[in-house]
Amino acid sequence: MSHYTLEQFLADTRATIASQGVPSGLAEIRDHLEKLLANPELLRKHLGDPVPYTERATIGHDPETDVHVLVHGRAKAGKSSIHDHGPCWVIYGNYKNPTRMRRWRRLDDGRTAGHAEVELQKEFLNEPGQAAVFAVGDIHSIEYGDDTFFIRVTGGDVESKQTLKFDAAKKTVEVANRALGQR
Ligand SMILES: [Fe+2]
Repeated sequence: MSHYTLEQFLADTRATIASQGVPSGLAEIRDHLEKLLANPELLRKHLGDPVPYTERATIGHDPETDVHVLVHGRAKAGKSSIHDHGPCWVIYGNYKNPTRMRRWRRLDDGRTAGHAEVELQKEFLNEPGQAAVFAVGDIHSIEYGDDTFFIRVTGGDVESKQTLKFDAAKKTVEVANRALGQR
Protein backbone atom coordinates (compact mmCIF):
# COMPACT_ATOMS: atom_id res chain seq x y z
CA MET A 1 0.00 0.00 0.00
CA SER A 2 1.38 3.39 -0.89
CA HIS A 3 0.91 6.47 1.24
CA TYR A 4 0.12 10.00 0.11
CA THR A 5 3.50 11.74 0.05
CA LEU A 6 4.77 15.25 0.69
CA GLU A 7 5.62 15.52 -3.01
CA GLN A 8 2.05 14.59 -3.97
CA PHE A 9 0.74 17.13 -1.48
CA LEU A 10 2.84 19.93 -2.96
CA ALA A 11 1.84 18.97 -6.52
CA ASP A 12 -1.86 18.78 -5.65
CA THR A 13 -1.65 22.11 -3.80
CA ARG A 14 0.05 23.69 -6.81
CA ALA A 15 -2.79 22.41 -9.02
CA THR A 16 -5.45 23.72 -6.63
CA ILE A 17 -3.89 27.18 -6.49
CA ALA A 18 -3.61 27.25 -10.28
CA SER A 19 -7.23 26.22 -10.84
CA GLN A 20 -9.04 27.92 -7.93
CA GLY A 21 -6.69 30.51 -6.50
CA VAL A 22 -6.68 31.67 -2.88
CA PRO A 23 -8.75 31.93 -0.77
CA SER A 24 -11.18 29.81 -2.85
CA GLY A 25 -8.78 26.86 -2.94
CA LEU A 26 -7.96 26.76 0.77
CA ALA A 27 -10.64 24.19 1.63
CA GLU A 28 -9.29 21.86 -1.03
CA ILE A 29 -5.70 22.36 0.22
CA ARG A 30 -6.97 21.44 3.69
CA ASP A 31 -8.32 18.20 2.21
CA HIS A 32 -4.91 17.49 0.65
CA LEU A 33 -3.29 18.11 4.04
CA GLU A 34 -5.70 15.72 5.76
CA LYS A 35 -4.62 13.02 3.28
CA LEU A 36 -1.00 13.78 4.14
CA LEU A 37 -1.72 13.56 7.88
CA ALA A 38 -2.95 10.00 7.32
CA ASN A 39 0.52 8.95 6.11
CA PRO A 40 2.00 7.04 9.08
CA GLU A 41 5.53 7.22 7.60
CA LEU A 42 5.57 10.97 7.03
CA LEU A 43 7.53 12.23 10.03
CA ARG A 44 9.88 9.25 10.20
CA LYS A 45 10.72 9.78 6.54
CA HIS A 46 11.38 13.52 6.80
CA LEU A 47 12.66 13.91 10.37
CA GLY A 48 14.19 10.54 11.25
CA ASP A 49 13.45 7.49 13.38
CA PRO A 50 12.73 7.92 16.22
CA VAL A 51 10.96 11.17 15.32
CA PRO A 52 12.60 14.02 17.27
CA TYR A 53 10.73 16.83 18.95
CA THR A 54 11.34 20.05 17.07
CA GLU A 55 10.45 23.66 17.72
CA ARG A 56 10.03 24.10 13.99
CA ALA A 57 11.32 22.11 11.02
CA THR A 58 10.60 22.88 7.37
CA ILE A 59 10.10 19.62 5.49
CA GLY A 60 8.79 21.01 2.21
CA HIS A 61 8.73 24.12 0.03
CA ASP A 62 7.34 24.68 -3.43
CA PRO A 63 9.15 27.60 -5.11
CA GLU A 64 6.40 28.06 -7.69
CA THR A 65 3.64 28.73 -5.15
CA ASP A 66 5.86 29.63 -2.15
CA VAL A 67 3.96 27.09 -0.05
CA HIS A 68 5.90 25.90 2.99
CA VAL A 69 5.31 22.77 5.05
CA LEU A 70 6.57 22.89 8.65
CA VAL A 71 6.49 20.40 11.50
CA HIS A 72 6.17 21.41 15.14
CA GLY A 73 6.77 18.63 17.64
CA ARG A 74 6.27 19.66 21.23
CA ALA A 75 7.42 17.52 24.15
CA LYS A 76 5.66 19.68 26.72
CA ALA A 77 2.25 21.29 26.83
CA GLY A 78 2.05 24.93 25.80
CA LYS A 79 0.02 27.68 24.25
CA SER A 80 0.50 30.57 21.87
CA SER A 81 -0.43 34.20 22.03
CA ILE A 82 -3.48 35.40 20.11
CA HIS A 83 -2.08 36.26 16.69
CA ASP A 84 -2.62 36.68 12.99
CA HIS A 85 -0.25 35.55 10.24
CA GLY A 86 0.49 38.87 8.56
CA PRO A 87 0.11 38.53 4.76
CA CYS A 88 0.03 34.71 4.87
CA TRP A 89 -2.67 32.04 4.95
CA VAL A 90 -2.00 29.10 7.23
CA ILE A 91 -3.50 25.62 7.58
CA TYR A 92 -2.88 23.75 10.83
CA GLY A 93 -3.08 19.96 10.76
CA ASN A 94 -2.60 17.73 13.77
CA TYR A 95 -0.48 14.63 13.36
CA LYS A 96 -0.21 13.31 16.92
CA ASN A 97 -2.52 14.44 19.75
CA PRO A 98 -4.98 17.33 19.43
CA THR A 99 -4.61 21.10 19.58
CA ARG A 100 -7.28 23.30 21.13
CA MET A 101 -7.96 26.00 18.55
CA ARG A 102 -9.51 29.31 19.36
CA ARG A 103 -10.68 31.74 16.71
CA TRP A 104 -10.95 35.39 17.71
CA ARG A 105 -12.81 38.29 16.18
CA ARG A 106 -11.47 41.83 16.27
CA LEU A 107 -14.13 44.34 17.36
CA ASP A 108 -12.41 47.73 17.15
CA ASP A 109 -11.69 49.65 13.96
CA GLY A 110 -7.90 49.49 14.31
CA ARG A 111 -7.52 53.25 14.32
CA THR A 112 -6.01 53.60 17.80
CA ALA A 113 -2.36 52.55 17.78
CA GLY A 114 -1.66 49.73 20.18
CA HIS A 115 -5.32 49.23 21.04
CA ALA A 116 -7.40 46.24 20.01
CA GLU A 117 -10.42 44.44 21.31
CA VAL A 118 -10.83 40.78 20.46
CA GLU A 119 -13.54 38.36 21.49
CA LEU A 120 -13.60 34.58 21.34
CA GLN A 121 -15.58 33.49 18.31
CA LYS A 122 -15.11 29.73 18.23
CA GLU A 123 -13.24 27.05 20.12
CA PHE A 124 -12.68 23.49 18.98
CA LEU A 125 -10.29 20.57 19.19
CA ASN A 126 -8.25 19.95 16.07
CA GLU A 127 -7.89 16.19 16.36
CA PRO A 128 -5.12 14.10 14.76
CA GLY A 129 -5.90 13.76 11.07
CA GLN A 130 -7.84 17.02 10.99
CA ALA A 131 -6.75 20.36 9.55
CA ALA A 132 -8.12 23.88 10.06
CA VAL A 133 -7.84 26.80 7.64
CA PHE A 134 -6.87 30.35 8.64
CA ALA A 135 -7.23 32.77 5.75
CA VAL A 136 -5.20 35.97 5.51
CA GLY A 137 -6.26 38.18 8.42
CA ASP A 138 -7.79 35.44 10.57
CA ILE A 139 -6.87 35.66 14.26
CA HIS A 140 -6.34 32.61 16.46
CA SER A 141 -4.49 31.01 19.35
CA ILE A 142 -3.46 27.44 20.04
CA GLU A 143 -3.10 25.29 23.15
CA TYR A 144 -1.78 21.74 23.27
CA GLY A 145 -0.75 19.02 25.68
CA ASP A 146 2.46 17.02 26.02
CA ASP A 147 3.76 15.08 23.02
CA THR A 148 1.87 16.96 20.33
CA PHE A 149 2.96 17.03 16.71
CA PHE A 150 1.28 19.33 14.22
CA ILE A 151 1.97 20.42 10.68
CA ARG A 152 1.58 23.94 9.41
CA VAL A 153 1.19 24.71 5.74
CA THR A 154 1.77 28.39 4.98
CA GLY A 155 1.23 30.48 1.87
CA GLY A 156 4.48 32.47 2.00
CA ASP A 157 7.12 32.32 4.72
CA VAL A 158 5.22 33.55 7.76
CA GLU A 159 8.34 33.26 9.91
CA SER A 160 9.99 36.10 7.99
CA LYS A 161 6.97 38.41 8.23
CA GLN A 162 5.51 40.91 10.64
CA THR A 163 2.40 39.61 12.36
CA LEU A 164 0.03 40.99 14.97
CA LYS A 165 -0.06 39.75 18.55
CA PHE A 166 -3.09 40.54 20.71
CA ASP A 167 -3.73 40.60 24.45
CA ALA A 168 -7.47 40.11 24.99
CA ALA A 169 -7.46 41.14 28.68
CA LYS A 170 -5.28 44.21 28.31
CA LYS A 171 -6.94 45.14 24.98
CA THR A 172 -3.61 45.68 23.29
CA VAL A 173 -2.04 44.77 19.97
CA GLU A 174 1.60 44.82 18.97
CA VAL A 175 3.57 44.00 15.87
CA ALA A 176 5.72 40.89 16.20
CA ASN A 177 8.68 40.65 13.89
CA ARG A 178 9.00 36.90 13.49
CA ALA A 179 12.34 37.18 11.73
CA LEU A 180 13.68 38.46 15.08
CA GLY A 181 12.12 35.58 16.98
CA GLN A 182 9.11 37.57 18.22
CA ARG A 183 5.71 35.91 18.02
FE1 LIG B 1 -0.96 30.69 14.02
